[in-house]
Amino acid sequence: MKNIAVFASGNGSNFDAIIRAGKSAGAGYRVALLVCDNPKAPVIEKARAAGVRQLVVARQDFASREDFERKIIEELKKERVDLVVLAGFMRLLSPVFVREYASKIINIHPSLLPSFPGPHGIRDAFEYGVKITGVTVHFVDEAMDTGPVILQEAVRVGEGESVEELEKRIHEVEHRLYPEAIRLVLGGKTSLYGRKVNILP
Ligand code: GRF
Repeated sequence: MKNIAVFASGNGSNFDAIIRAGKSAGAGYRVALLVCDNPKAPVIEKARAAGVRQLVVARQDFASREDFERKIIEELKKERVDLVVLAGFMRLLSPVFVREYASKIINIHPSLLPSFPGPHGIRDAFEYGVKITGVTVHFVDEAMDTGPVILQEAVRVGEGESVEELEKRIHEVEHRLYPEAIRLVLGGKTSLYGRKVNILP
């Protein structure tokens, strides 16, 4: 059984999906820790309800980003975390953190990267008028939304669809794709060649 930590700043619908998928037979992981940088985030209550330990750390309570991240790393070590899963974590991790957990940090983004990176992927794609957008799960490197792609799934924008409807459908895809990516990475089914992630049979 592998231990994962989910990092989230907001609603936590992906957190819930990851918890749910973790309970199915053969999932091979448990969520050992929620790391949240926003004391008002609904995800904290979701973790409480699921019996997952919560580390709530506000960046402003620490003198530097290094101190903030050192505290997080300390807790990850205590829980023997094998994989860091970013799910709506609205903060860029420093190179020190990324190096500490090299190839052990993944993120989900609600567009087909490299299109529409940043905090408003769904809205930006919708307003651009694309006909196809989607979901990307990728390894995290030192920049934002640029790491090697693990899985992608396309979502077609419906004629006359509202951004809210599109958002709902994108989230549904996320909730299926993210647990799948977690299982692949933890199961040793991904190997990295430069920027390319090969999925092993
Ligand atoms: C998701 O759309 C994810 O792709 C993005 O942030 C959002 C988090 O949603 N990185 P939730 O908190 O999991 O509901």
